[in-house]
Amino acid sequence: MWTLNLSLFLTGSLQVLTEVKYVGDQFILLPCNFHTFEFDDLTVVWSRSDLSPSTVHKLVTKGTELTDQNQLYKGRTSMETDALETGELTLNLTNLQWADSGIYTCAIRSSKGEERRVTDIELLVKDYQVEIDSGVETVVLPCKTPVVLPQDATVKWKDRYRKVHVFKNGSDQPQEQDRFFRTRTKVNEDLLKTGDLSLTLKYPTDGDTSTYTCTVYSSDGDVLVNKRVKLSVKGQLF
Ligand SMILES: *[C@@H]1O[C@H](CO)[C@@H](O)[C@H](O)[C@H]1NC(C)=O
Ligand SMILES: *[C@@H]1O[C@H](CO)[C@@H](O)[C@H](O)[C@H]1NC(C)=O
Repeated sequence: MWTLNLSLFLTGSLQVLTEVKYVGDQFILLPCNFHTFEFDDLTVVWSRSDLSPSTVHKLVTKGTELTDQNQLYKGRTSMETDALETGELTLNLTNLQWADSGIYTCAIRSSKGEERRVTDIELLVKDYQVEIDSGVETVVLPCKTPVVLPQDATVKWKDRYRKVHVFKNGSDQPQEQDRFFRTRTKVNEDLLKTGDLSLTLKYPTDGDTSTYTCTVYSSDGDVLVNKRVKLSVKGQLF
């Protein structure tokens, strides 16, 4: 049975799928399906050949094996424990980062060392981009999260160098924001309840062109949400 599958692979061609996500997205499911009756002593390996070590996630019949996992993926990957029985070898990758961009290979290895590549998926993780012409009255930088946020969380919007908006202890903290943004920023009411942390910026000019980050901290200082938005304001006001 195994040999048959292997020879099928050698003559077949591999389809490459491309998935696009944004930095800070909560998770992506990378699909991989492989059905076999011989799931004893099989290993599923998700890997990226451009990394060393190349292992992103490894599942053996007895469970997860993460001894040679690349540090980039530490604590961010999971697969269903019965994946080998169901044939659904989907990888769940959480808290997406720029560095996750690459080609992911899902492969099965037999105990004899035979290997079959099942799927290649190209993942692109990008900054979310907003482009406007200067002269518009306001621009909204989106930042939404399905994460349930504690009511004592702190929300900070920053550009590359400056604090753009701070929401702490239940209210805006204008004394903490950079003067350049004073009176020009607004966040929604109930932002911690709704998870909509989007920032409204008034009278944007090309001086506002930058990469903005939206970060939520717990009262212990843990980062709960971290997203990026690239704003580009085109043209001059006059
Ligand atoms: C993926 O993993 C994250 C973190 O453990 C979890 O919140 C999410 O529900 C998982 N997604 C699916 C579809 O299993
Ligand atoms: C938080 O807000 C409450 C009520 O507005 C106030 O009494 C308290 O001093 C504030 N705490 C801090 C650390 O600013």
